[in-house]
Amino acid sequence: MKTAITELFNIRHPIIQGGMHYVGFPELASAVSNAGGLGIITGLTQRTPELLAKEIAKCRDMTDKPFGVNLTFLPAFTAPPYPEYIAAIREGGVKAVETAGRSPEQYMPALKAAGIKVIHKCTSVRHSLKAEQIGCDAVSVDGFECGGHPGEDDIPNMILLPRAADELKIPFVASGGMADARSLVAVLAMGAQGMNMGTRFMATKEAPIHDNVKKALVAASELDTRLIMRAIRNTERVLKNPAVDHLLEIEREKGAKLKIDDIHDQVAGVYPKVMIDGQMDAGAWSCGMVAGLIHDIPTVKELIDRIMSEAEQLIRSRLTGFLDGDLAKQVA
Ligand SMILES: Cc1cc2nc3c(=O)[nH]c(=O)nc-3n(C[C@H](O)[C@H](O)[C@H](O)COP(=O)(O)O)c2cc1C
Repeated sequence: MKTAITELFNIRHPIIQGGMHYVGFPELASAVSNAGGLGIITGLTQRTPELLAKEIAKCRDMTDKPFGVNLTFLPAFTAPPYPEYIAAIREGGVKAVETAGRSPEQYMPALKAAGIKVIHKCTSVRHSLKAEQIGCDAVSVDGFECGGHPGEDDIPNMILLPRAADELKIPFVASGGMADARSLVAVLAMGAQGMNMGTRFMATKEAPIHDNVKKALVAASELDTRLIMRAIRNTERVLKNPAVDHLLEIEREKGAKLKIDDIHDQVAGVYPKVMIDGQMDAGAWSCGMVAGLIHDIPTVKELIDRIMSEAEQLIRSRLTGFLDGDLAKQVA
């Protein structure tokens, strides 16, 4: 399958692995790239630009295919040294960066000067248009279903993707709720040129996270995520657990007066405890509604090959079956 996204990033399949804190290490990113997608190392999981440079070198040893780095621009009192992180990306020869959080505008000249393709992840049409205007090469349109930060507009992909298709000139991938061939074919129909997956890639053999996390994703249904931090406009979709229940109680008590300090224990320093130590109730961690579509823990290659072969089957048989009026072909 060739799309504007496979051509832009020089990859075989139009499938991207979104940056994930304490998940997007070279083991996963290289597995995705080796399987023909675009694997992404999560930049800020590395505490310093020097450590990121080492991760990039490690990933380069694990794949000769293109891979990218995620740079998340967070609202922080002391911003991470982004220019130094960008230098590490440039010097590591990485040609794709997934930006997220705030607009990457101020860093675009440095990224473009290094010949880096920028795909900005955003949760609204207006932010997508802004990304196009500041020179991003593509957008990852992240619907309300997504794991992580869905923004504050709450527009699901069934509406957001066709809206993006109507407005954007640059190519985009669909992000949030993507799990299988049905996701891919559906979003191609809605105007996307590929898809970005987060949660689904966590439940793979190569994801370098504790087995407890993978098992929790297989056990979870689409009803098991919760939205936290709405009152401070930093909404995050997480998997429900006792710590999240407690956090939501605090949020109900504090109402509009909620401060980040009130929920510090449930959100700070949680990722290493969950992803490395497997302490599932250590606090709140991102997870998409797509957990309801995850029933196994395949290798990344098995997952991607399955998606691509079933997508071909869907397009050639089921979809043409509608045009041909052949009800037997229309079976999913
Ligand atoms: C555990 C986890 C951690 C994440 N961390 C980040 C991050 O650090 N930066 C970022 O831009 N997106 C992050 N995301 C969002 C993903 O890149 C992706 O956009 C999202 O998972 C897509 O929705 P899905 O989970 O339904 O596939 C994270 C998602 C998960 C599940």
